[in-house]
Amino acid sequence: MSIKLVQLPEQYRLGHKYIDGQHEILFQLFKELSEYCKDTEYDIELEIILLSLKTYVDTHFRYEENLMESLGYINIETHKLEHSKLEKQVVEKFDKFSTLSNKDEMMVFALDLKGFLMHWLLEHIAETDRTFCETLN
Ligand SMILES: [Fe+2]
Repeated sequence: MSIKLVQLPEQYRLGHKYIDGQHEILFQLFKELSEYCKDTEYDIELEIILLSLKTYVDTHFRYEENLMESLGYINIETHKLEHSKLEKQVVEKFDKFSTLSNKDEMMVFALDLKGFLMHWLLEHIAETDRTFCETLN
C-alpha cells in the first residue's frame, strides 16, 4: 500500500495553524484507512492506524482544551464533553479490535471505523471546532 501525503480539504480548514496541522493528521489517518479498505492485505496497517489514533486524541484534545482554558472560552464544557465521547469511542474501537478473528470481521470493523472518522471530521471539526476557531480569529 502506498500512501500519498494529503492536504486537509478546505471545508475542514479553520484558520489556526496548529489546530489545522493536527486535524491534517486525523485526515491523513482517514485516508490511510480508506486505502486499507481497498486493499486489506496487511492487518498490521489497521493496528497502526488505531494506535496512532489513540495517541492522537490525547495530544490533540489536550492541546485544544488547554487553549480554550487559557482563553476562557465560554463553551469549553460542551466542547470537552464531545472530546470525551470521541475518546471513549476510540478506546472502545481499540478494545474491539483485539477481539477480531478473521478478515471479514476486520473489514466490517475498518468500514465502521472509517464512518466514525468521517463523522468526526464532519460534525466535530467542521462544526464544533470551527465555532471555537471563529472566536480565536
Ligand atoms: Fe475539538
